[in-house]
Amino acid sequence: MTDASSAESAIVIRDVESIDEIHAIEALQAEVWGGGDLDVVPLTILVAMREVGGILVGAFDGDTMVGFAFAFIGYENRLSAIHLDESAGSAAAAFNLPGQPRIQPVMHSHMLAVKREYRNLDLGRKLKLAQRERALRAGFNVMTWTFDPLQCINAHLNFAKLGVVSDEYKINFYGEQSSSFLHQNGTDRLWLTWLLSSARVNSIVNGVEPEGVVPDLTLVSVSEGDAPVMNDQVPTTERPPLAIEIPGNISDIARRDLDLSIRWREATRSAFLKALSQGYLVTEFHRCTRNGIELGYYVLTAQRIEDLV
Ligand SMILES: CC(C)(COP(=O)(O)OP(=O)(O)OC[C@H]1O[C@@H](n2cnc3c(N)ncnc32)[C@H](O)[C@@H]1OP(=O)(O)O)[C@@H](O)C(=O)NCCC(=O)NCCS
Repeated sequence: MTDASSAESAIVIRDVESIDEIHAIEALQAEVWGGGDLDVVPLTILVAMREVGGILVGAFDGDTMVGFAFAFIGYENRLSAIHLDESAGSAAAAFNLPGQPRIQPVMHSHMLAVKREYRNLDLGRKLKLAQRERALRAGFNVMTWTFDPLQCINAHLNFAKLGVVSDEYKINFYGEQSSSFLHQNGTDRLWLTWLLSSARVNSIVNGVEPEGVVPDLTLVSVSEGDAPVMNDQVPTTERPPLAIEIPGNISDIARRDLDLSIRWREATRSAFLKALSQGYLVTEFHRCTRNGIELGYYVLTAQRIEDLV
């Protein structure tokens, strides 16, 4: 195996092909998420879902798979108002039958993982770009996935490096707990929408940082003791941009003080639910340091996903 720090340019992102490579995905899932055998998406499902249009891409250092991303086809009807490209050959045209409720075909990305020793080499972003390219080629304009909004690394990757937005918060999406060490404080998720062909996503994935919005009001902030502080202040302007802060490393907090990490879950859940129910959209995520404490904050603006298409 190549030394990871010097391997970045030697790593190839390509379709996962052989049965042995799909077995490597099973092994990588167990390595990255822990948990039991029941938590691993098995080869049979991966093969079947790929056969009906799913996307399986891997990052390879020589013959060794060091990361992968898996997406399958689905549809949503909550997005039916947007982006229904009816041109011949598009996935939307194929999904929508005359006289039936209109539905939005989506490519749903279920898993993205990179081996620990290969992280922070941009492979996560490159795997997502490979998914995007393949989804667009197959006629999809929307990719969805979920992630734990308390995870700072994932928030940065999803919002700052890829340009996703979110208008939906799912409470305990996979139930209250799972055997994975990443799910010790419930399984709340933000439902993400990646508008694959939008001007916004195009420029963000090409490295153009959007002009950031400055929040007027912070709903939850990080205190000096790493605790969440809820803000009940009433906004001074109508529907101002909002912020929700999260700690820089929730996994460290959960390891040293599970109750504190649960307080973080409760505070951020309540803030996201409140803002999203009032028509806010999560549009940005930024990292910063305050009084020596690392943290991140989401920016929420009063707009609809349709405004960004
Ligand atoms: C999420 C994951 C796939 C990212 O893979 P990766 O190859 O490291 O991703 P990238 O290198 O493209 O991006 C990682 C970014 O996180 C940043 N980062 C690293 N540590 C961080 C921290 N503590 N806080 C905030 N950002 C951090 C890196 O700086 C990098 O951003 P940059 O390129 O702007 O510097 C990988 O961490 C992983 O496998 N995690 C476990 C499984 C998982 O969470 N999967 C995703 C479910 S949605």
